[in-house]
Amino acid sequence: MSFDRIAPCYRWLEAMLAGGKLHQCRTAFLDQLPAPHNILLMGEGHGRSLVEYRRRFTDAQITCVDASRRMLTEARRQLARHRLSWSRVEFLHADILSWMPPENRHDLVATNFFLDCFRPDQLEQVVSKIAASSTRDATWLLADFQIPSAGWQSVRSRMIIWSLYRFFRATTGLPARTLTKPDPLLSKAGFQLHYRVVNEWGLLHADRWEKPAYGKQAATVRQGRNATLSTFSEQSHVAGYPFASNRIRPSQGTSR
Ligand SMILES: C[S@@+](CC[C@H](N)C(=O)[O-])C[C@H]1O[C@@H](n2cnc3c(N)ncnc32)[C@H](O)[C@@H]1O
Repeated sequence: MSFDRIAPCYRWLEAMLAGGKLHQCRTAFLDQLPAPHNILLMGEGHGRSLVEYRRRFTDAQITCVDASRRMLTEARRQLARHRLSWSRVEFLHADILSWMPPENRHDLVATNFFLDCFRPDQLEQVVSKIAASSTRDATWLLADFQIPSAGWQSVRSRMIIWSLYRFFRATTGLPARTLTKPDPLLSKAGFQLHYRVVNEWGLLHADRWEKPAYGKQAATVRQGRNATLSTFSEQSHVAGYPFASNRIRPSQGTSR
């Protein structure tokens, strides 16, 4: 499996196929987080999240891990393009399936469009490794695809996701054949869903998961434009998340 082949055109592929939708998910919660000390960007790819994290969390140490060298090169280029410093950014060329992250280190981890790369048996290992590398009060931000439970939105999502897996399996040798929902694994690893934004007719979601030490229990779902309420029923609104409307709030100063 390698994303090297598509790394140089990944950004353009995303822009053509999804516009800014994926990036809205990547950045959905960044403006509400307390300043972290150690950030793990796992499967960071072409560096669009890295730019946002570097801009906002100027004092944090960022570890950016990817199994594709060319993706890491693209990530470095993104920083340079945005005139952001590489200091306090560590680029690690590693495969999560063999790499052992340091334990109890990261107070913020992000896996954007990464967990969908794995088969169920691999996903369990990946989630438990990342969880072990997180501190007791860690936040886990996650953006990914999902399949709504019913209706035409479910059919639409299934078709899109089926084509994406066909494409990525052909171009990268991706091990996964289909999407595995990571929620039970995150819960088993000690995280609780704190906030979820669903967008694009239920196809995309952005999650904020917290370790219970953070002291928040409620799961809240906000629907994005054209989305239907899918996996969770709406519960209490968690204070401190001023989504003015039910759209994913575009973040300020997003990279291109
Ligand atoms: C679909 S891309 C997503 C990239 C980026 N996070 C984003 O938001 O678009 C998945 C990324 O995960 C990396 N990846 C896939 N499997 C991996 C593994 N086993 N270990 C480390 N990185 C991996 C790929 O090289 C690729 O850069």
